[in-house]
Amino acid sequence: MCGIVGYIGTKEAALIILDGLAKLEYRGYDSAGMAIFDGEKIRISKSVGRLKVLESETCGGKTMRGTVGIGHTRWATHGVPSKTNAHPHFNRQETICVVHNGIIENYIALRKKLADRGYEFVSDTDTEVVAHLLDYYYKGNPLEAITKVLHRVEGSYALGVMFAQHPDQLFAVRKDSPLIVGQNEDGCYIASDVPAILKYTRNVYYVDNQEIVRLRGDHMHFYTVDEEELKKEAVYIDWDANAAEKAGYEHFMLKEMYEQPKTVMDTLSPRIRENDIVIEEFEMPDEQLRQIKKIHIVACGSAYHAGVTGKYVLESLARIPVEVDLASEFRYRDPILEEGAMVIVISQSGETADTLAALREAKSRGFRVLGIVNVVGSSIAREADSVMYTWAGPEIAVATTKAYSGQLTALYLLAMKFAKVRNTVTEAEFEELLDSLKRLPDQIELLLGSKERIQRFANRYVGAKDIFFVGRGIDYAISLEGSLKLKEISYIHSEAYAAGELKHGTISLIEEGTLVAVVATQQHLYPKTISNMVEVKARGAFVLAVTNEGNHDIEKVADYVIYIPKTHPLFANSLAIVPLQLFGYYVAVGKGCDVDKPRNLAKSVTVE
Ligand code: M6R
Repeated sequence: MCGIVGYIGTKEAALIILDGLAKLEYRGYDSAGMAIFDGEKIRISKSVGRLKVLESETCGGKTMRGTVGIGHTRWATHGVPSKTNAHPHFNRQETICVVHNGIIENYIALRKKLADRGYEFVSDTDTEVVAHLLDYYYKGNPLEAITKVLHRVEGSYALGVMFAQHPDQLFAVRKDSPLIVGQNEDGCYIASDVPAILKYTRNVYYVDNQEIVRLRGDHMHFYTVDEEELKKEAVYIDWDANAAEKAGYEHFMLKEMYEQPKTVMDTLSPRIRENDIVIEEFEMPDEQLRQIKKIHIVACGSAYHAGVTGKYVLESLARIPVEVDLASEFRYRDPILEEGAMVIVISQSGETADTLAALREAKSRGFRVLGIVNVVGSSIAREADSVMYTWAGPEIAVATTKAYSGQLTALYLLAMKFAKVRNTVTEAEFEELLDSLKRLPDQIELLLGSKERIQRFANRYVGAKDIFFVGRGIDYAISLEGSLKLKEISYIHSEAYAAGELKHGTISLIEEGTLVAVVATQQHLYPKTISNMVEVKARGAFVLAVTNEGNHDIEKVADYVIYIPKTHPLFANSLAIVPLQLFGYYVAVGKGCDVDKPRNLAKSVTVE
C-alpha cells in the first residue's frame, strides 16, 4: 500500500523524505513523488517505477531545496501507474497539495459535483478530489478547510496536506489507514509506518481515526473533526530497525495474516450500499446477468482454492453451474465453452503466466472475462473485460493469506449479486447473508487472537512426516488451502482429500500418530464427517478438528478442537482458514524455515 512521509523543521526536507520513503519500499509501490515548499511556491517532482528514479531525477533530493515537504510512494488503486496519477496532487492554483493512502469511496459523486462547479481533473485518482475539495472549502483557515473535507469524504484515508500560504505548517489526517507523527529537536515528521522515521525519532504518536495533526517546526497539535484540541501521549518505539519494516511482526506472513480483517473490510465496504451489493466494476445489466448459463473459474494455487470455494457458494446461492479449472490445464485442454458462459480468472499478482494465458484463450473465443485481481494495473487487470479488485494491498510473503481472503470475499459478493438478480434467495436470506458478511472482519480478528494456543499445538508437529487435511463440501475447499499453506512453507508432505474419498485409497497411509486435520463447519455434513474422523482414529490418527462453536460433542472423537464463531455456512471458509494458516506458519517457524521466502518458490509465477 502507499507510503507517506512528511517533514517540517530546520533540515532539508527532500533528503528526509527520500530516506523515509526508501524505508517504506517493503509496502510495495509503482510510482513516487514529493512536494517541497521552496520559499516561494510548492514544487512537485514525480516519477514512475522505483524510488531510485525519483532520487536520480532530483539528484538525491538536492535539486528540491526547502525545509517543509511531503512525499509518497503509490500503489495504484484508481488509475494506472503513471506520472500524472502519482502523488502529490495539486489544486488548480497549485497552492494546496495532498498525498493519500487509502480509498475515497464516494469519489465519483464528489468528482461530479466538483466538475459541475468548474473544477478540472488531470488524473484518474480518487485522491485528486481531496485537493479540489480543500480548494473549494479553503477560505484562509487550513484547519477549517480540512475538517469540512473530512465531513464530505467517505472511505479510508491517511493524508498529508500542505498549503503554500501556510508554509510554517503541515497537516496529517487519518481514518482507517495507518499514520503516525513524531518529533525531535530538528522538526516534526509524518509517516505511514514507524521504519520511515525511526532513524530520526523513537517518540511517536499514533494518529487515531478522524484526528487531524497540525505540525510546525517545533511542536504539534492534535484536533478532532470538530476542531477541538486533543491531548495525546507519545509512544516510545524500542523496535530494532529490521523488525520495524514488519511493524514489529516476526514475518511478513504473520503481519499479512493480521491484515486479513482489513482486507475483508476493504473488499466489502465499497460494494455494500444500503443493504444491497453494488459491484461498479462489473457493469453488466441485470438482464445479462440473468442470461449467464455457466461460470468457468480459472486460477492457480491458492487462487484456484478460492475458486473451489467460489463454486460451492455460487452454485448454492445463485444456482448457476460452475466449473473450476487449474489455469495450466484449462489453457491446453481445449475447454468446451458454450454460449452463455462467463469466465472468471482469479490472481493476486495479476501476472501468473498460466492464468493470463487462460484469460487470453477465453477472450479469443469471444467469452467475457472477469478478473478478480489484487495488483492494480497488472496484466490480467488490463486484459480482462472487467476487474474486481481485492483490496489486500501489497502481499510480500510468498504464501498468500490476505489476498486469498480478499478473493473469497469478492466471490461471496459476486455470488450474492447473482443470487439477488436471479431471485434465487429471498429478501430475508439476503439480509442474513449480508449480516454474516459484515461480521467476518471482527470474527477473523477474534480467531487471530488465539494464535498462542495454535502455536503450542503446532510445535508438537515440527517433526511430522505427513499431515492430511480432510473435509466435505466447502470444508474440502478449506482443506486444500490449509494443506498448501502447511506444505509450501514447512516442507512437510501434506495432502487434502474430500473426506468421503479417504476409504478409496488414502486411509492406507494413516499410521499411529499421523495428524489428520478435519474441517467440519458444514452442519448438514457434520455426522458424515464425524464418521470419517472415527475411521481415521481407529487407524491411530491424531485428529485436529476445526468446527463451529457449539459442536462440543466433537470432543468425544477429536483429540484437539478449534472452534470458529458462528457465521453463514457458505462463509465458513473465511474463518476456518485462519487457524490453518496459523498452524502452517507456526510449524514452519518451529522448524526454522524461511517462512516469507520458501525454497524453490516465487511470489509471482510469470513463466509456465
Ligand atoms: O498471483 P496468483 O494469485 O495468480 O498466484 C497463484 C499461485 O501462484 C499462488 O496462489 C501460490 O499458490 C501461493 N504461493 C500460495 O500461497
